[in-house]
Amino acid sequence: MLTKAPSQTGWVPRRTLPGPKQALPPPAPDVQSVAILGRVAVESDLWSRWLLDRRDARDAAQRGVTIEHLSHVRDRVLEAAGSLDGATLLDVGCGDGLIGLRALDLVGPDGTVIFADISDALIEHCREAVRARGALDGARFVLAGAEDLARIPAASVDVVTTRSVLIYVEDKARAFSAMHRVLRPGGRISLFEPINRLMFPEPDDRFGGYDVTGATDLAAKVKAVFARSEPPGAVAAMMGFDDRDLVRLAEEAGFERIHLECHIDVEPGSLMRSVTLDALLGSAPNPNAPTVGEAITAALSEPERQRFVAGLEQAFTEDRAVRRMAVAYVVACKRR
Ligand SMILES: C[S@@+](CC[C@H](N)C(=O)[O-])C[C@H]1O[C@@H](n2cnc3c(N)ncnc32)[C@H](O)[C@@H]1O
Repeated sequence: MLTKAPSQTGWVPRRTLPGPKQALPPPAPDVQSVAILGRVAVESDLWSRWLLDRRDARDAAQRGVTIEHLSHVRDRVLEAAGSLDGATLLDVGCGDGLIGLRALDLVGPDGTVIFADISDALIEHCREAVRARGALDGARFVLAGAEDLARIPAASVDVVTTRSVLIYVEDKARAFSAMHRVLRPGGRISLFEPINRLMFPEPDDRFGGYDVTGATDLAAKVKAVFARSEPPGAVAAMMGFDDRDLVRLAEEAGFERIHLECHIDVEPGSLMRSVTLDALLGSAPNPNAPTVGEAITAALSEPERQRFVAGLEQAFTEDRAVRRMAVAYVVACKRR
């Protein structure tokens, strides 16, 4: 049976196979499950655990590499949004503040950045980051889903940004309508999304971009564990759209002057930009997924695990990896 388990990095196992050798291990005990963030006790959640811990294997060097890569995406999204001086900018799915924190500098003292997310823990994380900068006056924090942006009044913002959020939203048409609703006439959106459908699933002899020729049987079992980790709906949300759908959705929501740039790159390097083999094994490719190490353990017997990890390590050491990515940048305006 063909299934796909896409990721934010675009890593998509090719097909499901018979059940894993072992059940997936329960999530590791999370010492930060109730984090005291500023003055409020906030429970961590799937999203905050992934963005703040599991995406980068709790490894500072790995996080640095990820942030360095994402900072280029962030800058491009903000640049495409046009002049931001004095603007009210809403960042939908603000996460740990990648876009919103930089936007604070760009909107200046007369502008406002609204950090919106469905994760309380991430909202509080952003609030603390803004507080640490002494910039609370220029920020607001709103618990809101992209599907309705319910707490954001109509025609109240100048710019909506979002990065790698719609990919997780099943009803993207509602999200585009909500972004259109909250914008003032003449307001604009600037967004970035990976387009997994264009490049994945990856070939059988690749695992996260690494050359696993000689262990494709084992790679398939591990990919199957990833495929099974996705809840219903998540695969469709991540895989069920391409660049043309984004244009259509923007147009149907009422946007005009829509401009989309699709970038496709096939280049040396791994999908997760892993700095060490340990960082690779400790990273989870998306919020629903186990870490690579957890998936390997769940999928393979001990001798198989050793063979697979040895092959992966060799590919890692010899830099035998190809990253295949398709991404889209979209800007569009609300009619004046
Ligand atoms: C991949 S992270 C991206 C975070 C941030 N935009 C960035 O650029 O780093 C996805 C973010 O979307 C948020 N999210 C997921 N589903 C959402 C939804 N339906 N509405 C709003 N935010 C959502 C998550 O909590 C998470 O912060």
